[in-house]
Amino acid sequence: MADITIKGLTFEPYISQEEIAKQVERVAAEVKRDCVTDSPVFVCVLKGAFMFAAHLYRAINMPKSEIAFIRYKSYSGTETTGEMNKILGLNDDITGREVIIIEDIVDTGLTAHALRQDIEAMSPMSVKMVTLLYKPASLKVGKEPEYVGFEIPPKFIIGYGLDLDEQARGLSDIYVLKENNNQLHNNMLNIVIFGAPGSGKGTQSENLIAHYKLFHISTGDVLRDHIKRGTELGKTAKEFIDQGQLIPDELMIGILAQVIDDNKELAQNGVIFDGFPRTIPQAEALETLLNERGTCVSAVVGLEVPEQELIDRLVKRGQMSGRSDDNEETIKKRLDVYHNQTSPLQEFYKEKGLYRAIKGIGTIDGIFEDIKAAIDSINA
Ligand code: AP5
Ligand code: MG
Repeated sequence: MADITIKGLTFEPYISQEEIAKQVERVAAEVKRDCVTDSPVFVCVLKGAFMFAAHLYRAINMPKSEIAFIRYKSYSGTETTGEMNKILGLNDDITGREVIIIEDIVDTGLTAHALRQDIEAMSPMSVKMVTLLYKPASLKVGKEPEYVGFEIPPKFIIGYGLDLDEQARGLSDIYVLKENNNQLHNNMLNIVIFGAPGSGKGTQSENLIAHYKLFHISTGDVLRDHIKRGTELGKTAKEFIDQGQLIPDELMIGILAQVIDDNKELAQNGVIFDGFPRTIPQAEALETLLNERGTCVSAVVGLEVPEQELIDRLVKRGQMSGRSDDNEETIKKRLDVYHNQTSPLQEFYKEKGLYRAIKGIGTIDGIFEDIKAAIDSINA
């Protein structure tokens, strides 16, 4: 069996369908042996348990038994009732019946415990639970399931009914999230600082680095460093930069991945992405790249500055620092490229609920206060 990638995450084979079939037979025999009546009610908890339930129920093979399919949902009730659970789909009267709940997985036990209590409140003769998978190390409440197919460590698994965002349920085998030695911390603060040329990305990055102890990746700086050192990449990059054009996505994405993987230690608290992503393919690549490493973009801070102000700032900087792309002709091209290729990312990140617009004119410290407030509200 080969690895598979779903939603940018790589999973490796974990339990084969042959092994699953063997344990289904074993568990079915145990459940059947322990039944004290010939007409128990099996309760399959959707969606995850549907495949296990089908195979298990067939193997148990008790013609007088029944099977119900339920969804167990948490919802917020009124202020006085708080969190409530609701069993959907259990229409039969189970008073005095022998009930066996079929679960796909029990980890913290929170759902299993609550469901068991809710079913017990319906006065059955007895309630037992059979689960395909059980993570003993994760159990926080309730008792252990009576019947277990496989005991597994607390890992993230998919397939054979278990999903990742609704995908992967149809896989015949079970897969586990691949441990990746590129893994980053999952509680990183990863900020994309977004805006047109001259909007203050570099300037505000310095404040962000100091305040949140983040690792700064400015793709413009990385490229300018290559140009200074006269590398092959630098030679290619110079041609694009001097024309105010973007470096091709494929090249840029490769460079970015390399910088991240070379600086895992320094990036422990998080990364500030300055000048990346600049195109939709770059944004998609960033998402995949971070997901594969166990983290994600926390927020996108968009500095919004009127066009004339941008031009004035960059012309002024060009006179002082001599950055080769800070001349009026190239500045105009950079702004065109921004409007055509980069600004659609605002919509991309707005749809994900990550975009925070910041007014980028005023004092540098004043703008930083607004950025801080936006970031802190996301992480509150
Ligand atoms: P890059 O280096 O990223 O340049 P840019 O996006 O054009 O932005 P700047 O660095 O010029 O501006 P900034 O927003 O950082 O503003 P700053 O803080 O300096 O990219 C350069 C080139 O590299 C690209 O054109 C492309 O060719 C290539 N490239 C880079 N990344 C790429 C990618 N992902 N894909 C493909 N190609 C890529 O501020 C500007 C000036 O304003 C400064 O002088 C500052 O002092 C001043 N200033 C800042 N804030 C204020 C304020 N509040 N009030 C007054 N002045 C202010
Ligand atoms: Mg910059």
